[in-house]
Amino acid sequence: MASSTRLISRLTLVTGGGSGIGRAVCQRFASEGASVVVADISEESAQDTLASLQSEQRGQAHMWAAVDVSSKDSIQKLVSGIQTHYFQPPSVCVNAAGITQDDFLLNMEEEQFDRVIQINLKGSFLVTQAVAQALLACGASKGSIITVGSIVGKVGNIGQINYAASKAGVQGLTRTAAKELSRFGIRCNCVLPGFITTPMTDKVPEKVLSKMKTLVPLGRMGEPAEVADVCAFLASDDSRYVTGASIEVTGGLFMG
Ligand SMILES: NC(=O)c1ccc[n+]([C@@H]2O[C@H](COP(=O)([O-])OP(=O)(O)OC[C@H]3O[C@@H](n4cnc5c(N)ncnc54)[C@H](O)[C@@H]3O)[C@@H](O)[C@H]2O)c1
Repeated sequence: MASSTRLISRLTLVTGGGSGIGRAVCQRFASEGASVVVADISEESAQDTLASLQSEQRGQAHMWAAVDVSSKDSIQKLVSGIQTHYFQPPSVCVNAAGITQDDFLLNMEEEQFDRVIQINLKGSFLVTQAVAQALLACGASKGSIITVGSIVGKVGNIGQINYAASKAGVQGLTRTAAKELSRFGIRCNCVLPGFITTPMTDKVPEKVLSKMKTLVPLGRMGEPAEVADVCAFLASDDSRYVTGASIEVTGGLFMG
């Protein structure tokens, strides 16, 4: 088990922090000493997450904020609001906001495709760019940006042409950001979850989930906390020589 103080003084922005994997990341990071900004399009969910966070370290202070990651204006307000509140930008960022709007290729509407790309892919770009710009502007010597992709971005998935494209995109985005930002001490990595029990997968029909479980070598769906554990590693100095990586958190599903 990792040290419980590994993330002390790491001010962390978590988008999509109001639910599922994002919420688990907020809780794990707070338990390791980070100050956490819970950002979500749903104010109520963000507030619920905030209320669940530990705050046992001296100087540890959390906040919530409303953001729509598909809007550059909204993200700029978020990052400047954080700087006003904490007198520094976040040195760690976890891009966990994401949506699905599933349909088969032959039926999918252009709007469904665009919306998923706007939130999952463009949102990760806008947040990564804003955080990196803020870190450079204040002369920070290091940072860690983690983007939640998906194993579906690597292997595809029937009914998720928009989602698979968005998640393949964040891997390319992350590798490029890693190459461009490494000289500033900013590391960029992805986690690629498989099937994790969250409100997002609650929408998947039970028979699809049962079939999926039979394909997972570890024999079960994952828990949000199990993805958060890997994010905490990527945020911490334990991963100081890791950048541009995509770490699968899938129970072995589609390995290789
Ligand atoms: N659950 C899984 O099996 C799974 C697998 C692979 C990847 N993922 C990815 O993990 C991330 C988190 O998913 P989850 O399963 O926790 O889903 P979730 O639906 O529980 O949480 C997603 C959060 O993102 C927020 N959000 C949606 N649109 C937003 C926007 N425009 N701006 C800001 N916040 C917004 C939602 O309000 C919600 O709180 C997503 O990127 C998802 O694609 C999930």
